[in-house]
Amino acid sequence: MNLKIAKLAGDGIGPEVIEQATKVVDAIAKKYNHTVEWTEALTGAAAIDAVGNPYPDDTHEICMNADAVLFGAIGHPKFDNDPSAKVRPEQGLLAMRKKLGLFANIRPTTTFPSLIHKSPLRRDLVEGADFVCIRELTGGIYFGEKGRKDDGKSAYDLCIYSWEEVERIVRLSYDYAMKRNKKLCVVDKANVLESSRLWREVAQSIEKEYPEVETEYLFVDAAAMRIIQWPKGFDVMVTENMFGDILTDEASVISGSMGLMPSASIGVHTSVFEPIHGSYPQAAGKNIANPLGTILSAAMMFEYAFDLKEEAKRIQDVVNQSLEEGAVTVDIAEDGKALSTSEVGDWIASRI
Ligand code: IPM
Ligand code: MN
Repeated sequence: MNLKIAKLAGDGIGPEVIEQATKVVDAIAKKYNHTVEWTEALTGAAAIDAVGNPYPDDTHEICMNADAVLFGAIGHPKFDNDPSAKVRPEQGLLAMRKKLGLFANIRPTTTFPSLIHKSPLRRDLVEGADFVCIRELTGGIYFGEKGRKDDGKSAYDLCIYSWEEVERIVRLSYDYAMKRNKKLCVVDKANVLESSRLWREVAQSIEKEYPEVETEYLFVDAAAMRIIQWPKGFDVMVTENMFGDILTDEASVISGSMGLMPSASIGVHTSVFEPIHGSYPQAAGKNIANPLGTILSAAMMFEYAFDLKEEAKRIQDVVNQSLEEGAVTVDIAEDGKALSTSEVGDWIASRI
């Protein structure tokens, strides 16, 4: 198969971790007789510096023409502390999500046996936890009207969803649950928010079509609590954009390292695969960042974008091997025996 992949490294540690995923993808291609056509494109602060736009038209064109997008991270401290900045790197990510129609962000939470002791939660709570959060990604408060009133002394962000937007993500989540353990938890705040009441109404109307799936409705505050109290109780969870943003950061610590968590964003056009961690500017250029989240995102790319499950499994198996044998970066290494970012990439690529 010929795999056309757009490579958007972005900011901070993005380029370093993307480089390792590139080695791994190339190694897989060699082993399984695929050819890869990589096209690099600018995004984030790097794109603002170069052309004044965090998601330039050229980049969008490249993404539209690719079979999949591998994305690093975006964000730069020089924008974080400047609330008046007119263009921000994050706008690039949001523009990409909107323009590619990436309405479903799939974020798995799994545990790795050799890392369980790194989890802040007790072993008996964490061992065997395996759930997926499906976060709506192109609607809600992120994209609703926002602005200032009263001479700038008041501000608002509108949370708005249409029936169709909710329906497509809820359906996707039911289909996803059918392929897993047939449990779906719909997370909202229907006791307070009208937009959440719409979510619940839509979900209840679709629930009937999936009698095999056990549906549960949970308010987001209770869901936040349950994620750390009893993570094993979840199978598939679906929620709106900002609740999903918050809950998936919370869920990411269960595994013991956020640096390991991959994600897939799928929808209307080309799918995007990216680690859930940010640009981690403190580590940029130091060759210490954990590349496994990006490498596992590449595994998701083989599964979701190319339907190449064996290739995906091979990557996951070798990542597990690297964890078991301690061929890992400083964030998870034991007794000071850490490898660098590029050494982990080489280790995995060579074993593939
Ligand atoms: C994420 C990030 C983004 C988000 C930021 C960088 C805009 O936190 O992908 O979870 O809030 O969606
Ligand atoms: Mn986030």
